[in-house]
Amino acid sequence: MERTTETTNEIKVKWRCPSNIAIVKYWGKKDVQIPCNSSLSLTLNNSFTEVEVSLSEKTTMEAVELNYYFEGELNEKFGKRVADYLADNMEDFPYLRVSAVNINSTNSFPHSAGIASSASAFGAIALAMLDLTYILEEKEIDDEFYQKASRLARLGSGSACRSIFPAFALWGENDKVEGSSNDFAIEVETVHPIFRNMRDAILIIEDEPKKVSSTVGHGLMNEHPYAKQRFEQANKRTAELVQILKEGDFDAFIQICESEALTLHAMMMTSVDYYLLVKPGTLTAIEKLMNFRLEHLVPVCFTLDAGPNVHVLYPEKYAEQVEEFIKTELTDTYKKVIFDHEGQGPQKLNV
Ligand code: PMV
Repeated sequence: MERTTETTNEIKVKWRCPSNIAIVKYWGKKDVQIPCNSSLSLTLNNSFTEVEVSLSEKTTMEAVELNYYFEGELNEKFGKRVADYLADNMEDFPYLRVSAVNINSTNSFPHSAGIASSASAFGAIALAMLDLTYILEEKEIDDEFYQKASRLARLGSGSACRSIFPAFALWGENDKVEGSSNDFAIEVETVHPIFRNMRDAILIIEDEPKKVSSTVGHGLMNEHPYAKQRFEQANKRTAELVQILKEGDFDAFIQICESEALTLHAMMMTSVDYYLLVKPGTLTAIEKLMNFRLEHLVPVCFTLDAGPNVHVLYPEKYAEQVEEFIKTELTDTYKKVIFDHEGQGPQKLNV
């Protein structure tokens, strides 16, 4: 049956996409979101974006007519970024030539939490927009759908491509990892039980918006005096981490994870236009966590995103002990804590 514009405009889809936290960091990019090194992340569960997307009749001559609502309010700033992204990827969303698109987006985490939302937002947008293409072309969702969604998510925000896959995802060509690609992420499938359902307690140290956007940060790697060594190091660590996840060596995981966090911030501090995102609370929390690990011999470690917040990572079986420590010993370092854990990837929801 051929669809008329009227039936096209009745279609509505809803997707949930989680955020992710990088263990090996992506920092530095070329051309259209091509990473300078491979990266590997943990997909989260409780920190996610949901988007409901519907089509309606176009009322303007704009190439892309988009109404973007965030938490019920028209958001022109992010809407402009999304509209530009859709215009650049028109051939994947051909219905945009004849229909206007309405996106209603919500986050599970408070806007001011300082959690990077572009990964989950672009993950959810790419999935929902591609789903519309598939529905209109009467195609089934299959593995190729997720690979395409990952590529499209990457074009919106690099790290978003990893959020399309459950648990551990790897992005960026790496000659030691079969199937790895600069275009999309892949799932790391062989994972030892110690890393299964890994916990991530996100300590919100500060909840102000980022001082320096990640786009500017990536750009600073172009002129960075240590760029070459950094990219080589990250590629080596990505391949090592794949092996560590397979073998279940948590001590080796801790070493890569914490050094990656500090290296990311070291890159920022040693850029030609240097800057500093860690806060006193970040350092206090890290120091206390390292002491706690030494004293109690508990496998727990930290990582950092491009901001002051501390992600505390630990195996599920140590959850009680670590969470008790976070709630008693670390309270004066953070404003809020979000307890999250390994997620199973995106989900299509009923509308
Ligand atoms: O996806 P972007 O462009 O926001 O960059 C994300 C960069 C880091 O979060 C700092 C590291 C990463 O690999 O996610």
